[in-house]
Amino acid sequence: MQPHLSTREAARVELIQHVVSDPGELDRAFLAAARLGARTLRVARVGIWYFAEGESCIECQYLYDASRDEALARERIDLTLCGDYAAALRAHRILCADDALRDPRTRELAEYLARHGITSLLDCPIFERGKPVGVICHEHVGPARTWSKEEAGFAATVADMLGLYIEQDRAQRHYRALLQTRGELEQARVMESVGRMAAGVAHDFNNVLCALRMSSELLGFERAPTPALLQSHAADTLALLDQGARLVQQLSDVAHQLPTEEVSDLVEVAQSLRTFLHTLEPDGIHVELFTLTDRAPVRVARSYLEQVVTNLAVNARDAMLGGGTLTVEVGRERDRGGQERVFVRVHDTGVGMDEHTRERVFEPYFTTKGGGHGLGLATVYRIVRDSGGNIELASAPGAGTKFRLDWPSAD
Ligand SMILES: Nc1ncnc2c1ncn2[C@@H]1O[C@H](COP(=O)(O)OP(=O)(O)OP(=O)(O)O)[C@@H](O)[C@H]1O
Ligand SMILES: [Mg+2]
Repeated sequence: MQPHLSTREAARVELIQHVVSDPGELDRAFLAAARLGARTLRVARVGIWYFAEGESCIECQYLYDASRDEALARERIDLTLCGDYAAALRAHRILCADDALRDPRTRELAEYLARHGITSLLDCPIFERGKPVGVICHEHVGPARTWSKEEAGFAATVADMLGLYIEQDRAQRHYRALLQTRGELEQARVMESVGRMAAGVAHDFNNVLCALRMSSELLGFERAPTPALLQSHAADTLALLDQGARLVQQLSDVAHQLPTEEVSDLVEVAQSLRTFLHTLEPDGIHVELFTLTDRAPVRVARSYLEQVVTNLAVNARDAMLGGGTLTVEVGRERDRGGQERVFVRVHDTGVGMDEHTRERVFEPYFTTKGGGHGLGLATVYRIVRDSGGNIELASAPGAGTKFRLDWPSAD
């Protein structure tokens, strides 16, 4: 059988069960506490007031009128005109004024009391983390009454619970603000990586456009292009357009934070870049492409691998202004630990690099070229590093340049 609970005890249990876990719930908790306080103490009105303007006044956050069972409009009391009441709020845990109009602590409120017909007051300061933040006022209308010790104790419990609700509300707001800041930070990080990616993609898109232009110009030189030539030109154009489309896709994948768990075959990538590599030939460059294996699977998105090889190839072309040989080799071999690795080697017979250049080539915006951006090798480096690969460089002035990139095989 349920043990019998006094009205006050039942009200206390009800109060304690309230938890403010959502912004906006504080108002509901206030209403529930004010209604419960009014019923339990049989008072006409319950007001919940906050200190405001450096504690020089109190503002009513909530005024519950039992006769209408609703919350009423806000009021404010200037504490600078009610010094005794203000001092009493700071000095007392509970302020029982049986005859509010005569009580030295509350008589300064005469105008307010008279306006609402209030005769007796039972006020308790509300504390949040030990600091008074407001006051709950139980206002009795009608013939003056004497507050019992139990009633005073109950009013203090209500005040303590209000302090707890306010604290819960504040904690919730902080927590939500923190979540929002974290969300914004994550968003900023994504935007930053999209920005970096956009710069790289714009750069490499330009490489593809140059190749398209070169291929179209070559066709323009033909006086009487044969159907076979036109067909091969159309195929080249499509291959380059696909390469460009993959670059754009890469940008939108990053914007949508798609995982890049794609496995690509480096052999296929090299072969699909044949068109691109041959657009470098009119500059007097002989291109040699060797695939030393049938398959070279690697856990890197195809568009990234294309970016890597095209950047190395374009740099090689720039280093061989008087002509030369560009060699691209794809293969696989075991490392010293017996692990299968997939590699691509890009060699040129160009001007090579001195030590100073060699040390800085992977830095973003490092360039020795008039119209260069210094983004090509920085992009290569980022892609290889982010996908768990290695990059090696051997170069000397007049001796050409050799890049070797390798990744664990994705077999
Ligand atoms: N194969 C190469 N031979 C000689 N020097 C090279 C070679 N590849 C890169 N470099 C040097 O490294 C620098 C940086 O190369 P990177 O590709 O990052 O930028 P860039 O080619 O100057 O400009 P862009 O952003 O247009 O590619 C080049 O300016 C050049 O000095
Ligand atoms: Mg470059």
